[in-house]
Amino acid sequence: MSEPFDLVIRGGTVATASDVFTADVGIRDGRIVQIGETLAEGRQDIDAAGRYVLPGGIDSHVHISQPSGDGIVMADDFESGTRSALFGGNTTVLPFCLQEKGQSLRAALTAYHALADGNCYTDHSFHMIVSDPTASVLGQELPALVADGYTSFKVFMTYEGLRLNDAQILETMDVARRTGALVMVHCENEDAIRYLIGRHEASGDVAPRAHATTRPIVVEREATHRALSLAEVVDVPVVIVHVSNGAAIDEIRAARARGRKVIGETCPQYLVLTADDLDGMDWEGAKFVCSPPPRDTASQEACWRGLETGVFDLFSSDHCPFRYDDPAGKLNPKGKTSFRHIPNGIPGVETRLPILFSEGVMKGRIDLSRFVALTATNHAKVYGLERKGRIAVGMDADIAIWDPEARRTIRHADLHDGADYSPYEGIEIRGWPTTVVLGGKIMVRDGTLVGAKGDGHYRARALPTI
Ligand code: URP
Ligand code: ZN
Ligand code: ZN
Repeated sequence: MSEPFDLVIRGGTVATASDVFTADVGIRDGRIVQIGETLAEGRQDIDAAGRYVLPGGIDSHVHISQPSGDGIVMADDFESGTRSALFGGNTTVLPFCLQEKGQSLRAALTAYHALADGNCYTDHSFHMIVSDPTASVLGQELPALVADGYTSFKVFMTYEGLRLNDAQILETMDVARRTGALVMVHCENEDAIRYLIGRHEASGDVAPRAHATTRPIVVEREATHRALSLAEVVDVPVVIVHVSNGAAIDEIRAARARGRKVIGETCPQYLVLTADDLDGMDWEGAKFVCSPPPRDTASQEACWRGLETGVFDLFSSDHCPFRYDDPAGKLNPKGKTSFRHIPNGIPGVETRLPILFSEGVMKGRIDLSRFVALTATNHAKVYGLERKGRIAVGMDADIAIWDPEARRTIRHADLHDGADYSPYEGIEIRGWPTTVVLGGKIMVRDGTLVGAKGDGHYRARALPTI
């Protein structure tokens, strides 16, 4: 007789990126070992009748404890950031490890691991942010890190101190060509933004709304076109992150039509927020300052169509939390003098999946399998998480059990991050993940935390399979 299951999730509606079916899921030693009808009793059983049994979400674009300069402090450390992710139905997050200028990548990673180790409620892995692509970084360090399982890195075309010029981007992409790693690109034209910021400040227009006006669609479109062209020159696949509008989507479509491998990512802020939110009373608009900024309803529709039609492979949060009413956050002393000093980024790791489920699946825009692909399976394939993102025998037992009948209104008071607001406050949601299992261990049971800090582990990654 075979050993009993450690856990059986019984009678739920299981969804993969291709199928939806009713089954029991048997788990032993942290893995899914059997999927079938009427499995034998486990040491623990969860009755999932009437619930959806989905792969735990993988949020492959989050910022946690990232140094933000100028007395600004990110609102989440690994404890609060991964706890919030977990309550939002996620079992793996991929934060960015920032290389500061002059710093070796290894030193940045050592410091980042020290912050994460023993403090996480979800599994995690890191993308590098390459801000100083010296000869030794590109020649030795980065290839060695790829071999060690850090198989993706992000480059910026905007933000002073972070942005790379075209020559540097080409050189960094060449490391991806040589190693098989993936380059992610933040596409906004910094020089054009600086020009527009200068014009706005000169006219005394310094309120948060000007953040959106000085980062118009054209600066994203131009940079997207350039990033795709540079990737074509080097002949590498590329990830275009946080795409906000139809013009950038058209660039992705055009590159694909030329035979390029392009992975597109969008985020909740481009589906349910607009630039008008930055108008908020007094400086409340600062709560919505992120880059690229939320656009207009036509852009929202374009992003929905991109999700429906496959332009987007990834739906991520770009969780980048700063407290609002805090001198180390949005309302820092300089931030109150000009939109230019408001830290860029908004929280959203806990609300990413409920927003897409409610607005996408429950409103009939996407089906459950597409939801699973966009929120888990594709992230695992793109970023080399070989045992994650699928409900299948042999995979890590990372599972979120959803109550599709749950009705909630997003209130920051109910969330678990370290910020003091949610940009999604007041949005009505249908469907919420109520129980979350990580590596076979129940972490959240019926909305209550039962797992412990440190149950989440670092996972080295393979090369992308795209
Ligand atoms: O405003 C944003 N998105 N901040 C996070 C950093 C980034 O560019 O992803
Ligand atoms: Zn970015
Ligand atoms: Zn980001």
